[in-house]
Amino acid sequence: MRRSRKPLSVVRRIEGSNPSPSVVNEEEKEAAARAAADLVEDGMRVGLGTGSTVAHLLPHLPGRRNVTYVATSLQTERTALELGLDVQPFETLDRLDLTIDGADQVAPDHWLIKGGGGAHTREKIVAAAADRFVVIVSSDKIVDRLHEPVPLELLAFGLAATLRALDPTEVRGIPPSPDGGVIADYRGPVDDPEALAIRFESTPGVIDHGLFPPQLVSDVIAARGSTVEWLPR
Ligand code: 5RP
Repeated sequence: MRRSRKPLSVVRRIEGSNPSPSVVNEEEKEAAARAAADLVEDGMRVGLGTGSTVAHLLPHLPGRRNVTYVATSLQTERTALELGLDVQPFETLDRLDLTIDGADQVAPDHWLIKGGGGAHTREKIVAAAADRFVVIVSSDKIVDRLHEPVPLELLAFGLAATLRALDPTEVRGIPPSPDGGVIADYRGPVDDPEALAIRFESTPGVIDHGLFPPQLVSDVIAARGSTVEWLPR
């Protein structure tokens, strides 16, 4: 696919002395988000993901001219509108210049697991529609191998039969997605993400799954300790 990448580079340093792990985590999210915000230019159409890392991104976006945004969740849309960003329904745009989103897990080959917030179906559509899909993460999201859970969005119709076909999978017990889907989590092995993605995609009743292939990913911006890096694939 189309993707460009900057070489491995340190772009920013985080100040601070001896902070707690959760503070470091938030600082890492903030640093990765700020680096990605620099990619948003006047006139762009930009997809916005969902989650706490994206929440760090949004306050850095106001101030550009003529930028149109698409949000992947009501939560992102609400915050973006409060910040004065021009958020449009995705029905009106057929392509995006850039999408920025977080992830739950990033493997060395850039397979991702997303959907911790249950928004992975919309997030995958917005990622795939963009010329450049940039993933922003704190260092705890970088893993040697992907592991369960893999979030799923399922049709309510025939749910019990779909769950049986996807064993071991359990319903998460959160409200349906804005599109009416049931959010569930696959709890089995993720040794071969490509084969597992094919299994999900060939199971009737699966709306979409949280495995994102490397071909979709342009850049991973990961903050680790005091540095932010563009991770090479
Ligand atoms: C939501 C997602 C999020 O990007 C993912 O869960 C990471 O969230 P956070 O930035 O809060 O750690 O996929 O569906």
